[in-house]
Amino acid sequence: MKFFIDTADIDEIKALAETGMLDGVTTNPSLVAKTGRRFTDVVAEICEVVPGPVSAEVTATEADEMITEGKFLAGIASNVAVKVPLTPDGLKACRKLSGDGTMVNVTLCFSAAQAILAAKAGATFVSPFVGRLDDTGADGMQLIAEIVEIYGQYDNFTTEVLVASIRHPMHVVEAGRLGAHVCTIPPKILWQLYGHPLTDKGLKAFLDDWAKTGQKILEN
Ligand code: E4P
Repeated sequence: MKFFIDTADIDEIKALAETGMLDGVTTNPSLVAKTGRRFTDVVAEICEVVPGPVSAEVTATEADEMITEGKFLAGIASNVAVKVPLTPDGLKACRKLSGDGTMVNVTLCFSAAQAILAAKAGATFVSPFVGRLDDTGADGMQLIAEIVEIYGQYDNFTTEVLVASIRHPMHVVEAGRLGAHVCTIPPKILWQLYGHPLTDKGLKAFLDDWAKTGQKILEN
C-alpha cells in the first residue's frame, strides 16, 4: 500500500519524507492557495524532495486548455502526475496526456460509474473522495470497495485506486483491508497512525525499569 501526503506545505512534506514512509504527494488548488506561494515553484520544490508521483492540478475546464496546462505542469519534473477533474473534458485530457506517457490523476470521483470512465480514459490514478462522501451521509469506504471490486474484474484496467479526502486513521485501515493501492493522507493523520497509548505506556515502563539497572547499552 502506497502512502501519499495530501498537502502543498513543503515543511510538512520534508518532515514526513524523513520518515521514509512517503511514496508521493497530492496537491490541489485549495492546498496551494493556503501556502500563498507560486504554484509552479511549490510543485518544483516538492518534486525534488519526494521522488514519487506529485499531483499538480490543472485549472482550465476545457479539454484543449487542460492538455496545454497539463503538458506545462508535466514539464516541471518527470515525477509530476497531472491532476484533472472527472468531467467529460477532464477525461478527454486524461486520454491524451496518458497516451503521451504522462501520469494522470483523475480527481473528484464520487461514484463507481465515474471510476469506470477514469479507467477507460487511461488514468494512472483515480481519486475517490471518501471524507466528502461521508459528510453527505453516504458511505465513502463502500465506494472504495465497489471500485476495487470492479477494477479487479478487468486485466486492462490498470488505474490505481487512490483513496482521497481521508479524515481519520480508520479510513487508512479500511482502505488497506479493501486492497486500495494508495491513500493520500493529510500530515496530521499520517502522524496519528503512529500513535497508541499502550505503546507510550509500555515504553515508559521499560525505560523506568531500565533506569533502575544503572546500565547504558553503549558502555557494556
Ligand atoms: C486529493 O487529492 C484531495 O487533495 C484531497 O484528498 C481532498 O481532501 P478534502 O476533502 O479534505 O479537501
